[in-house]
Amino acid sequence: MKKLVVLTGAGISAESGLQTFRDEGGLWEGYNVYDVATPGAWFKNPRMVQDFYNLRRKAVLEAQPNSAHIGLAELEHYYDITIITQNIDDLHERAGSTNVLHLHGEITKAQSSSNPELIYPIDGWELKMGDTCELGSQLRPHIVWFGEQVPRMYEAEKITEKAELFAVIGTSLQVYPAAGLIHSAMQSVPKILLDPKPGVIGNVQNLTVIADKAGTGIKRLMELLLAIN
Ligand code: APR
Repeated sequence: MKKLVVLTGAGISAESGLQTFRDEGGLWEGYNVYDVATPGAWFKNPRMVQDFYNLRRKAVLEAQPNSAHIGLAELEHYYDITIITQNIDDLHERAGSTNVLHLHGEITKAQSSSNPELIYPIDGWELKMGDTCELGSQLRPHIVWFGEQVPRMYEAEKITEKAELFAVIGTSLQVYPAAGLIHSAMQSVPKILLDPKPGVIGNVQNLTVIADKAGTGIKRLMELLLAIN
């Protein structure tokens, strides 16, 4: 089976009812990144950070995978597929995808604020001040914040370098290093971008753009992939 790598962003979960970040009405219109998604924010006002991610977790637990998540899960029958997602939701997994790499962490998990390698599943939607890890340190959301290293980036690059097909769904490609992944795929590799408002991507060969929402465009994307195969 050919190796297919799919990079996903918030847009793939928009039709499941989860807000994107930079669209009109997106999360970063209602919140200041520096108040809720940086190590400095956690230092200054951890309760505000917990509240922000508790709300995100609640929304994720109430959401269901949509036809784009389900379509990607079906592609496991035809490809050796890795999904590299910037999303912190678990909708790819709940749709049935078995090989998902989360670049920016997972909202359903907590991590120790003193040792990031201590990671725990969260039962329910709420992580509280006073919830601690086995070392006695406060638990924080298992999220990669702005200003933090992206621990799984190297692994994501290595996987992308070996891709024989590459697709991108629902990301503004504005946040690095994730946005640079498309340049890790070999020039000769066919690439497909699915987004209703695709940005301009310079210096990328073999790129086909589908200007559509994930839920409807996934059918076209699957047809194109299967035609190449
Ligand atoms: N289907 C597909 N794409 C969509 C849909 C849809 N129904 N609706 C919106 N989009 C597209 C937008 O056109 C845009 O290109 O999804 C993209 C969303 O972009 P962002 O809000 O910037 O989300 P993302 O690229 O995932 O953000 C990257 O920034 O703050 C962070 O850490 C957060 O992982 C996130 C990172």
